[in-house]
Amino acid sequence: MQALVHDPESPSSLRRAEVPDPLPGPHEALIAVAAAAFNFLDLAYADAMHGVGGVPGEDAAGVVVEAAADGSGPPAGTRVASFAMGGALAGRRAVATADLGVVPDGVDLVVAAALPAAGVTALRAVRRLGTVLGRRVLVTGASGGVGRFAVQLAALAGAHVVAHVGSAPRGAGLRELGAAEVITDLDGVAPVRGVVENVGGPLLTAAVTLLAEGGVALSVGQASGQPSTIDFEAERRRGGHRAIEVFTVDTGYAGFGGDIEELLGLVAAGRLDPQIGWRGSWDRAVEAAEALRARKVAGKAVVEIGTV
Ligand SMILES: NC(=O)c1ccc[n+]([C@@H]2O[C@H](COP(=O)([O-])OP(=O)(O)OC[C@H]3O[C@@H](n4cnc5c(N)ncnc54)[C@H](OP(=O)(O)O)[C@@H]3O)[C@@H](O)[C@H]2O)c1
Repeated sequence: MQALVHDPESPSSLRRAEVPDPLPGPHEALIAVAAAAFNFLDLAYADAMHGVGGVPGEDAAGVVVEAAADGSGPPAGTRVASFAMGGALAGRRAVATADLGVVPDGVDLVVAAALPAAGVTALRAVRRLGTVLGRRVLVTGASGGVGRFAVQLAALAGAHVVAHVGSAPRGAGLRELGAAEVITDLDGVAPVRGVVENVGGPLLTAAVTLLAEGGVALSVGQASGQPSTIDFEAERRRGGHRAIEVFTVDTGYAGFGGDIEELLGLVAAGRLDPQIGWRGSWDRAVEAAEALRARKVAGKAVVEIGTV
């Protein structure tokens, strides 16, 4: 099959190549991939995650061509979206049936491909904050994939969402998605009960000082590449109790399929917008990856792979 493989010598470390078809394990279905999304992971950590010649990509949507041998999951012909570590940017993908969600009629496979990694991360992060109804929630990196879903999902849960972006133009559209405030600076921001922090560096440092009593700050990502300094002694002197937590999407992992279907249901109901900021053929994958790396994509970059 054709695939995009990780090759540090190629532009954006991506090269089209002929690779062997994946061999599904007993609990895996084989999918003909229609569309796949890029994630920050694919660009920042491909060397460590996939190695040279490996196929990157967490998110793929398509049609089941071979149901899992153990009888789990949907039959051949079902339209699905999937989330797994690697293998999405290819004509075929073998994926555990626990990590598949069935795509409802009326939801395009390109739209479905935008949801899994960023959407499930945002969904689980917002849930992790606990009850946010009427409470202030800060989302940083709000212009990106996880950020645009987190803004929408926190707003859906009833939060007063404060969306932080790197520059004013990157905040375009966030109010329409439910953000009550769109800011480029944390100075003077009123206390927040929850933080979904995607950027790291000084932003996490500053966000922690904004936490109200009982609040929780989730370190979801470090898109800036910068570590953060937290003054725990100063936090202790503030008194009360607040939590600073390292968040990973697979904590308590029991398959991603259920959450993918929840997100697809919200999209089908018109309550969640996939925020596809770049869409095109996988012949233009390098362009998509470079736009994402340059912070020029509002939300997700999705490449069309097959015709299913
Ligand atoms: N914990 C987990 O399980 C988990 C799961 C998925 C993703 N993540 C992490 O979450 C973070 C966000 O992922 P994503 O898919 O939303 O990424 P993305 O779509 O690329 O968005 C990242 C956002 O971070 C901001 N940013 C600030 N400094 C940046 C820099 N130096 N380089 C790139 N972006 C920078 C950008 O906003 P502005 O342009 O407005 O500044 C950008 O929109 C990443 O660190 C990713 O690794 C973690």
